[in-house]
Amino acid sequence: MVSLSAPYTKVYHSSHTFVVRDNHDRILAIFAARPDGADWDECHQSALEAYDRFAATPGALSDDMFRRGEFATLSAGVSYGGGQTVRRLHCMWNFPDVLEHPSIIRLAGFANGVFANYAPKLYAYYVDTLGPLFAKLPSLKLPFANSIFTAVSFNFGPKAISWCHLDGGNVPFGLCAITSLGSFDATKGGHLYMWELGLVVEFPAGALALITSGGVHHGNTPIQPGERRASLVQYCSGGLFRYVLYGFRTAAKFMRQDRKGKKEFDAGLADRWRACLAFFSKSSELAQDLNEVFGVGIDVE
Ligand SMILES: [Fe+2]
Repeated sequence: MVSLSAPYTKVYHSSHTFVVRDNHDRILAIFAARPDGADWDECHQSALEAYDRFAATPGALSDDMFRRGEFATLSAGVSYGGGQTVRRLHCMWNFPDVLEHPSIIRLAGFANGVFANYAPKLYAYYVDTLGPLFAKLPSLKLPFANSIFTAVSFNFGPKAISWCHLDGGNVPFGLCAITSLGSFDATKGGHLYMWELGLVVEFPAGALALITSGGVHHGNTPIQPGERRASLVQYCSGGLFRYVLYGFRTAAKFMRQDRKGKKEFDAGLADRWRACLAFFSKSSELAQDLNEVFGVGIDVE
């Protein structure tokens, strides 16, 4: 499906955004150039310092926080699962040093902007789906006011190296934003790989990637002894989208209240993947998509 020779190693250049396209020109992953400004290193380094301050809080991290690798993770935001309705994940609302840290908010907002600029139709779908949900359930709160993602995971490290995995709970056709943090030689380790694409990308501290984490297995290569890596990951639960599509109810409730409608909905799922693929912009049509979604003229390289 993807026109790349595997294994394919890509060198990250901080001054250029590059995208991964399938053989229909659809943009499936984005590796963003750093924002303009000399203070980006200062930004992601101070974000890491906020991680460290939080991790040093007695009892802040426990041994049961290891899911994707041998590192502690904490999440915040809104998710869905376990037969429940919309629920909050483990909350960090009481730790403003992390969730309200200006550098972390800036990292989150930058990821949101790259998402909107390289996948505008998908971004609009997120807004159109999540907007009514949050309007209907005003007690829900996004982790960051400047980002559409409904959940965030703070991967603390000291060696946040993810095993090869698939985020099956995420929106299957959605994008997940990963910001790399730490201090390590990115030419020797900490690469982000996407298994089915045969793609390995240098992923230095401060770099941002948006990938289809629910559709492609991914992980990191090890870093060198004595080095440090952490990450900031933003994503959306697929269950939230289903909850809205089901008419703001669970699958069970949908079936109970409207058996015929639920069966018709399920019958349409076989073709839904085509509609989902259409959310991804083709690079040749990106400027046009941006104009249609946001109504502004934007030049896209
Ligand atoms: Fe992941």
